[in-house]
Amino acid sequence: MRIVAMSQNQPILDELRRYLVVEKSPFEVTFSNGDISQVGIVVDQRHPDLLIFDTTSSIPTPLTELEHVTSRYPSMAVILLAQSNSPEFLTEAMRVGVREVIPPPLSSQKLLDAVFRAQKRTALTTTRAPKGKVLAFIACKGGSGATFLAVNLGHILATSSGKRVVLLDLNLNFGNASLFVSDHAPANTIADVASNIQRLDASLLTSSMVQILPNFSILAAPESPERASEVKPEHLDALMDLATTHYDFVILDMSRTLDSVSVRALDRTDVIFPVLQETLPFIRDAKRLLATFHALGYGREKINLIVNRYEKGGDIRLEDVESTLGMQVTHTIPNSFRAVSASVNQGVPVMKIAPHDPVTKALLQWAKTLSTEPNVKQGGWLAKMFN
Ligand SMILES: Nc1ncnc2c1ncn2[C@@H]1O[C@H](COP(=O)(O)OP(=O)(O)OP(=O)(O)O)[C@@H](O)[C@H]1O
Ligand SMILES: [Mg+2]
Repeated sequence: MRIVAMSQNQPILDELRRYLVVEKSPFEVTFSNGDISQVGIVVDQRHPDLLIFDTTSSIPTPLTELEHVTSRYPSMAVILLAQSNSPEFLTEAMRVGVREVIPPPLSSQKLLDAVFRAQKRTALTTTRAPKGKVLAFIACKGGSGATFLAVNLGHILATSSGKRVVLLDLNLNFGNASLFVSDHAPANTIADVASNIQRLDASLLTSSMVQILPNFSILAAPESPERASEVKPEHLDALMDLATTHYDFVILDMSRTLDSVSVRALDRTDVIFPVLQETLPFIRDAKRLLATFHALGYGREKINLIVNRYEKGGDIRLEDVESTLGMQVTHTIPNSFRAVSASVNQGVPVMKIAPHDPVTKALLQWAKTLSTEPNVKQGGWLAKMFN
């Protein structure tokens, strides 16, 4: 469930974060510091299923402002944190579409009870599960190896686990992911899917993709920047709904330009893999990218750092990278110029061209971790809360 939590008061936002962002939480929460006049803008950007709005930190504001938003998003649930619990206020709140009012003091129990009631009402628990896991790859700096890793991890995951894997090339302006593992130009792209979005179903998606293995396909990026601009955030919603329903893993090859399309995709991502190498320019850009993720409200548990082209005994040690970025590195992939160049230049998966190369072995290990860990979206956190 996608949630937007808004307050003008940072301590209240921090408290909401503590209650809502816990390990394996089924919620994708964006925290926004703003007042009632900004609700419309934030909701237009995020399209949340649930809005949690704090009115305790501002001078009493007429709820009519909120009504402008709720009338445009009738299916969005709204929870208000409010000082007043008077019958008049509650009636007014209900009239503008608010279904829950939480008076202070706020507590984890009160908040989560209200959130679960909202979730039950919108019946999201039943309509959205079970879902494929979404993994996004993003280069901290050009040439990190994000595309190479995304495509080859997808290939190895499909081969070694038998899971259904799809890769969506969301590097809309310059994507070429399919050419890393296939030698012919894709007949259709994500722009064709976007222009036929009204009739998008599993068979249209399958026929629009480059099939690499029976259980691994790639939806290619548009052939030109003009066509890239045809892909809108709402197309991505439909595409990802379908992909997560029909595939066990949905891998996204992202561009570093975080526009409304890519942010929409990242909002729906379970794990983001920023890819960097062990030199200062990469580390600097990684720091910036991590700050952007923080600003977008993505918790640390959603981000797994990957160091590519790793060589033991280099100038910069792994511990230095970790202490500079304030985060553990999840996987390292060795440097292997010969095998990787052969794979990339011939458009053949690295596992096929060099099955015993250290890069292949590292990817196999990574795929094993992914295919054996429980799907976060079916995770036990929600169940635990109910029990
Ligand atoms: N582990 C590795 N060992 C050796 N070379 C590698 C490795 N990983 C990637 N490379 C090389 O780095 C090049 C760039 O990789 P890739 O295109 O995947 O980067 P990217 O991060 O997606 O960059 P872009 O910003 O252009 O999308 C590849 O062509 C490949 O030759
Ligand atoms: Mg790339």
